[in-house]
Parts: sequence; C-alpha cells; structure tokens
Amino acid sequence: MAEDSPVKIVKQDKGIVIEDDWPGYSLDLFTYPEHYHGDIESVYIPHGVIMDRIECLARNILEDIGNHDVIALCVLKGGYKFCADLVESIKVLSRSTNRTLTMRVEFIRLKSYLNDQSTEDLHIIGPEDLSMLRGKNVLIVEAIVDTGKTMKALLKHVETFQPKRIGVAGLLVKRVPNGVGRLPDYVGFVIPNRFVVGYALDYNEYFRDLNHICVISERGKVKYKL
Ligand code: HPA
Ligand code: MG
Repeated sequence: MAEDSPVKIVKQDKGIVIEDDWPGYSLDLFTYPEHYHGDIESVYIPHGVIMDRIECLARNILEDIGNHDVIALCVLKGGYKFCADLVESIKVLSRSTNRTLTMRVEFIRLKSYLNDQSTEDLHIIGPEDLSMLRGKNVLIVEAIVDTGKTMKALLKHVETFQPKRIGVAGLLVKRVPNGVGRLPDYVGFVIPNRFVVGYALDYNEYFRDLNHICVISERGKVKYKL
C-alpha cells in the first residue's frame, strides 16, 4: 500500500450507548481528589472503563491506518488526556503486532463553553498555521461532541489546510435534540445530554484533574461559577 494514499475508514465504531436513566456509580465506590468532595454527584464513567474503551478504539483505528502515516490533531484543552491515552494505546498495539508506526501529534486549541453552556461563538485560539497537515492523513482527537457545531467549524477550518483525509475520534458523543453535522468515525461512548466533567473535561477550568468522568453536583456548579 502506498504510504501517501488516503486512509480508508472501515472500522467505524458507533460507541457504547449509555441510556438516559443511567445514574452513574455511587461516589463511595471510587476514590477521587479530596478537594472535589461535595462537588460531584456520581461517577458516570470510571477511569478504568475509559481506558479499556480507548484500547478498543485504538485497535480499530490501527486497523484502518495500516501502513499510512497519520497526524493526530489533539483538540485542546479537553482532548489532552484522550489524545495522550489513545496515541499511547495505538503505539503499544502497533509494537505488539510488530509494526513500525510513527504518529505525529499536533495541537489545536478551541474554546466555546462558559459555565455549562455552549456559547455561540467558537474561538479557535491557535495555532494559526496548520500547514503541516497539507496532504496528510489527519485524525482529529476530540473529547466531546455535542451540538456538532464545534466539530463542523473545526472541520471547515482544518480543511482549509488541505489534508488528504480527515478522520475523527470522539471519546464522548452527547445525544442532543438538534445535533448537526458529522459524527466521529470512532466513538467511545454515546451519553445523555448531561454536563460531565473529569478526564480533562472542565467546568470553567476545574475538574480536569479528576480521573473519572463524573456528573457535577449543583453545589459544584455554584462553587465554580463565573
Ligand atoms: N463537559 C465539559 N465540557 C463540555 C461538555 C461537557 O459535558 N460538553 C461540551 N463541552
Ligand atoms: Mg471546556
């Protein structure tokens, strides 16, 4: 297979569906930082489950990548843990199957949320120049896709740099009433329309240091409100 042909996405993964009535696990069953006691309601997706799921996504992505060179485009800040763990998992799997894979990682930073609400304006904070994506197979690595507006704007932006093919990995996809645009090719979990934090997902920059994906409590929302 030619190194520079587009990656064919065939191992699409629609994700584990978490139903609307899933309350999450009781907090007593897990450990989490002392400073968040009272600020979260339940453990929605435990860290270990996230890691196992990522391994599965890594396997599918690796099968699609074959011998192509790929640039992972990590969407900051929320995607930093997912990207790090996904790239690591792909690396470990490729080694154990005796493949030599070099995966470059680049970063883009976006901001669109204030408190727990999406603001109308998406800010692409940087970098300005993504010309290194030109002619490359790009895998966008995003922690969460909800309305799809951010993803739509991001895809449009990335396309201006003329990559060969864009694949998208999303750890979480939210079931929202008016979802727009393209779903990720590789989805970790499909979750109800609730605001979640942890595993690098924030509420006004808090909770990124929580390993599990959790539901924030009313007290937590008030405490860290801007
Ligand atoms: N949590 C944190 N950040 C987000 C979310 C969420 O549920 N949805 C979109 N950005
Ligand atoms: Mg955020």
